[in-house]
Amino acid sequence: MQQLIKRAETVLEALPYLIKFNNKIIVIKYGGAAMQSEELKHKVIQDVILLKMMGMEPVLVHGGGPEINKYLRKQKIEPKFIGGYRVTDKETMKVVQKVLGEKINQQIVSLIKKAGGKAKGFFGKKGRVIKAFKYWKKDENGEKIDLGFTGQVGGIRFRYLKKWMKLGYIPVLTSIGVGKRGGVYNINADKAAAAIAAYLKAEKLIMMTDVKGVLNTSGELISHVNTYKAGKMIKGGSISGGMIPKVKSCLYALRKGVKTAHIIDGRVPHAILLELFTDHGIGTMVKK
Ligand SMILES: Nc1ncnc2c1ncn2[C@@H]1O[C@H](COP(=O)(O)OP(=O)(O)OP(=O)(O)O)[C@@H](O)[C@H]1O
Ligand SMILES: [Mg+2]
Repeated sequence: MQQLIKRAETVLEALPYLIKFNNKIIVIKYGGAAMQSEELKHKVIQDVILLKMMGMEPVLVHGGGPEINKYLRKQKIEPKFIGGYRVTDKETMKVVQKVLGEKINQQIVSLIKKAGGKAKGFFGKKGRVIKAFKYWKKDENGEKIDLGFTGQVGGIRFRYLKKWMKLGYIPVLTSIGVGKRGGVYNINADKAAAAIAAYLKAEKLIMMTDVKGVLNTSGELISHVNTYKAGKMIKGGSISGGMIPKVKSCLYALRKGVKTAHIIDGRVPHAILLELFTDHGIGTMVKK
């Protein structure tokens, strides 16, 4: 009996957070190592279903960098990145569509269904949720760099997404956008997640990654970064690679009205619940 009362009390500890986040949209970017382990994947899926069942509106946006690289290497194509952005030639785009859309997206949707939730997958032309156009990156001298089929978000069909959410579905989105003429573009999943959070006016944007959060040069976790500090760290090189679009995307979402943005360790079991249901949260909180 005592044990059961304890369990009831543990459940009740969530009450203030359930009140706070009732009906609120939580956009979760899922990528990196947390997606590599089957056990962790299962836990993420359980957490997301739990949020939905507890009255929140989770939206899942996934990447799949390591998996794409694995497929590319199988085809003897060496993955190429400039400033954290993938250079996407025609062959790479084919692999991106196959791996992100056909494989990972459908797998996440079916895992949610198997675990008792309702999910709807959107990728590229399926639903055309993410509108895109070609992304031209600029180098230090302001010269344009051609990244091929790497795209930029032009808009999100957020009303369409909300319709599915109201029907009880958890949207699962791949960061493949569709251009005006029907062409497909590979978009950095962090940027896509931030745009989705902005258009949906989300309460929270959670970026799950394969490190503790933003780390300093000694490898220690920084619990808060703001625009100024992030800018300094990017310039100085202590934030590099895939962490650049991640931090920038968080700042973008905040500027667009998303209440809070967090970069958390997807390797920690139930990281999403730890972030949402504790006062101090985990990982790095990004602030304006
Ligand atoms: N200051 C920093 N703190 C933490 N990680 C950093 C930092 N600078 C660079 N990184 C790199 O950024 C990586 C995270 O970005 P990355 O794009 O590789 O993963 P992801 O976005 O989680 O997954 P995916 O791209 O597959 O969706 C870390 O693994 C680390 O190597
Ligand atoms: Mg990334």
